[in-house]
Parts: sequence; structure tokens; C-alpha cells
Amino acid sequence: EDITARRKDAHLDLCATGDVEPGQNSTLLDLVHLVHCAMPEMSVEDVDLSTPFLGKRLRHPLLVTGMTGGTERAGVVNRDLALVAERHGLAFGVGSQRAMSEDATRAASFQVRQVAPTVALLGNIGLYQAVRLGVDGVRRLMDGIGADGIALHLNAGQELTQPEGDRDFRGGYAVVESLVNALGERLLVKETGCGIGPEVARRLVELGVRNIDVSGLGGTSWVRVEQLRATGVQAQVGAEFSAWGIPTAAAVATVRGTVGPDVRLVGSGGIRTGLEVAKVLALGADVAGMALPLFRAHQTGGVAAAEQALEVILTGLRQALVLTGSRSCAALRRRPRVVTGVLKDWMAAL
Ligand code: FNR
Repeated sequence: EDITARRKDAHLDLCATGDVEPGQNSTLLDLVHLVHCAMPEMSVEDVDLSTPFLGKRLRHPLLVTGMTGGTERAGVVNRDLALVAERHGLAFGVGSQRAMSEDATRAASFQVRQVAPTVALLGNIGLYQAVRLGVDGVRRLMDGIGADGIALHLNAGQELTQPEGDRDFRGGYAVVESLVNALGERLLVKETGCGIGPEVARRLVELGVRNIDVSGLGGTSWVRVEQLRATGVQAQVGAEFSAWGIPTAAAVATVRGTVGPDVRLVGSGGIRTGLEVAKVLALGADVAGMALPLFRAHQTGGVAAAEQALEVILTGLRQALVLTGSRSCAALRRRPRVVTGVLKDWMAAL
């Protein structure tokens, strides 16, 4: 097994059971309150959660964000969760295809089309791997798994905590520009748990980016994951930065306030319940994204456990729409909501 694959399995082990969601971190979604409607005047059946995404129509506004690939174990996770996404009309993303770009024999673990022929599917590659691969290399990763688009992940915080990670973050926007010129609406730019704020989002959109996943602070922390693997200085500084980032609620609200309605916004990072999905949608996300909870459910009981976890989330989401008197995600966004505490400070400052 090469270094990339071994690191991937170490990451999966840590995410399965490790303390990768530091308790002090918060999405700040607890400071958002949707307002109860005592007379909803609608049936649960009236709720229409369907949403356009990546040129397809999702039945539920949820994306299983990219996690894994490159090993046999990772292939099982990808196929099982893609199957769940296919059955329930969610979007699905594979994890970083770096392993596939380095060794074509690893491609099989990213192939999910056999079990998920119609799912809205995202490939995945890191910004600085994309530099090395070039536009054609990135397109080959996307086409090589029959994906509808590709997620370009930003992870400066993780890289700095990784002993072998990148240290030079120049030239990023130029790479995004060449990719978006080639891939257009098939490109999505995402963070990995530290959040994309309005300043970066505005520049991305100016370059033509039409899909952004904020992946904010409050859930899986990749600084934390690397800190748990690191020793010495990196471990100590990693501990200090495990709470670094823009909380998901602040990222979604301020990015939506900055970019136009034609930008598809994914709200992710620490989303764990249907009510939290409803809150990020209310704050302006088109789709909510989730990684760790579905991975962990799958680790405990495969497809059935992942579907059970999803059912709880979707039931909660539908309930939130009914209890706010909203028939659709668009209607939910027009309903009143109360924003309190330090989240107001974030929203005022960004
Ligand atoms: C991730 N994430 C991730 N992101 C990415 O763009 N490429 C990747 O390869 C991975 N790998 C990965 C593995 C595992 C096991 C997890 C849990 C997560 C990050 C993920 O897509 C997401 O942005 C963050 O995890 C925040 O969402 P959650 O986990 O708090 O819901």
C-alpha cells in the first residue's frame, strides 16, 4: 500500500471512533430559531423537498459530501452510501481522487455508477493536486467515474497541521479560474470544515464558480484529525487550531448575503439533524451537506444503519417544514427566523 492509501485508512479509523469533532466547536445553528406556526394548514404530504443540483433534480436537498476512496474498505463505504443516496434521491460525493490519479488500479474504489446510476455524483480533488494534474487531468478524474461534477477541496488548515502537508498556498485563484473556464457549472468549490466566508466566495463567484459548499466549523475538524496523527510542534499547534474556522451558520448566512441566487450553495459542517438541515436551508443554503454522521452509521451497521440515520434526519426535516408552515425549501427561506447571540456578531462583521 502506498503512502496516500495508508493515510486514507488512518483517517477512516480516526473518523470512525476518534474525537474528531472537538466539543468546544459549534456550528452556531443553536443560535438560529425557526418560528413555530400553530396552524400549518397543510399535510405532511404537501412538503416538496425537491431541488435542482448539478443539472439533476434531487428528491431531498441533501449531499453526502466527499469522504473516501483508494482502498477496498473505502470502496465499500462509497458504494454503500452512494446506494443510499440513489434510493433516497440525495446527491453523493466520493472522497479525494488523488489516490486514483497516482495509481489507476485504485479507480475501482471510486466507481459507484453500477449501484447509483442516476445519483447526482461529484468527484473530488484538492486544489493543489489540481495544480499538478492540470485541467485535463481533473476532467479525466470526473469523467473516469461518470460524475456530474467535481468538488475542488480547500484545506489549508489541514495541510499546515500535516507534517508532510503543503506550505505554499499561492496561485489558488488562478487554478480555480482555469478549472471553471473548462468545467463551468460542473465545478464545485468546497472547504473541509474551516468554512468559506463571503470574501472568498465573492472572488470565486467573480471567476465564474456557480457551486460552493461552505463546509464550516462545528463538525468534523480536519485540523483535529491531523493533530491526532501528528507529534511535536504540529500536534501542539494543531490542538490550538482545532477550533479554527467560520461557524457553519455564519458562513451560510453571510455567503448567501454576498452571492446572487444563481449560485448553488451547500451548507455543511456539523449538520447532524433534520432541524439543522432546515436551519441551513432557512439561512440560504440550497442543499445541506453531511459526512461524518452517515459514515459513522455505516460503520456500525452498513446500508441499513445509514438508511435508519437518514430516515431520522429526513423525518425531522419534513417536520420542521410543516411546523413552520412551509411547503418547499423556497417557502421556508421566506419564513421568519430569530438569530441570536454571537452569531449576530459574526453576521455583522463578515
Ligand atoms: C472527509 N472530508 C473530505 N472532504 C473532501 O473534500 N475530500 C475528502 O477526501 C474528504 N475526506 C473525508 C473523510 C471523512 C471520513 C470525513 C468524515 C470527511 C470532509 C467532508 O466532506 C466535510 O467537508 C467535513 O467532514 C464536514 O462535514 P461533517 O463531517 O461535519 O458533516
